[in-house]
Amino acid sequence: MNDSFPKIFSLIKDFSGYDFSGYKYSIFDKCLKKRIAATKSKNIDLYLQYIEKNIGEIKQLRNALTINVTAFFRDSLTFEYISYVLLPELISAKIETKNYSIRIWSAGCSTGEEAYSIAMILNELLKKQDSNFDIAIFGTDIDENALKKALDACYSYEKMKNIKLELLNNYFDQQNGVYKLKDDIINIVNFSIYDMLDPRNYVPPESIYGNFDIVFCKNVMIYYQKKYQKIIFKKLYRSITGHGFLVMDKSEAPNPDFNRQFKKVNKYCSIYEKI
Ligand SMILES: C[S@@+](CC[C@H](N)C(=O)[O-])C[C@H]1O[C@@H](n2cnc3c(N)ncnc32)[C@H](O)[C@@H]1O
Repeated sequence: MNDSFPKIFSLIKDFSGYDFSGYKYSIFDKCLKKRIAATKSKNIDLYLQYIEKNIGEIKQLRNALTINVTAFFRDSLTFEYISYVLLPELISAKIETKNYSIRIWSAGCSTGEEAYSIAMILNELLKKQDSNFDIAIFGTDIDENALKKALDACYSYEKMKNIKLELLNNYFDQQNGVYKLKDDIINIVNFSIYDMLDPRNYVPPESIYGNFDIVFCKNVMIYYQKKYQKIIFKKLYRSITGHGFLVMDKSEAPNPDFNRQFKKVNKYCSIYEKI
């Protein structure tokens, strides 16, 4: 770690309330180098002097650190498995036990595509059911700009590339190249700011209590050092209901300390059942 990192962490924390000291130093360094180049600072010490006097640049650096890359139905095999196996089985089990509630959390939801993807699938499946389900989907992130975009629910044509025609027709209105999600999907998802490392709550306060049937935490933990990944894992584990599911990205797996608490549901996707 460079000697200037702690000072930069504390400037970002004072400015935005978020503590990036748990980020992997290699990732922090990469984002920092981009900003050093963008501001034409000669070295990290001069960059530090620059941000001390320039709040706008602290914001730019913070934005560079919250890497928002996401997509609808990102990791298509995982979403196919959820649509054709996991959710139909979950819905049948719920009907059998007369528990008509489904609770889902997209943790680190960025601009909303992950939460809306699951909302569309669930809506399609529940249309075919006679029973009335109470659906709660929560999308949380530390990045308020990303959350504003999620709430706005307007996406470009490029963002539609993974969306099946039926879903495109059923759930989007298109105007001047902008694809706006329909209110019946927007209204299912509750977006809020929530830091996965916040020690005060183990679930987003908006959800009141956890008890989630499915938690998505994809491409978030990869940014954190092992110690912080464990803190996040503990939280996720607690938030998932008995035999609920954790969905990660295909390149991710639960921290080895949690191997006995999660069972992989099949060999193709990073979906884990709580045991
Ligand atoms: C690469 S995006 C992943 C989006 C989505 N889950 C996916 O896989 O497509 C990572 C997101 O995690 C968010 N994030 C990073 N640290 C976080 C934390 N401590 N709590 C909540 N969100 C966090 C970032 O702001 C960013 O929007």
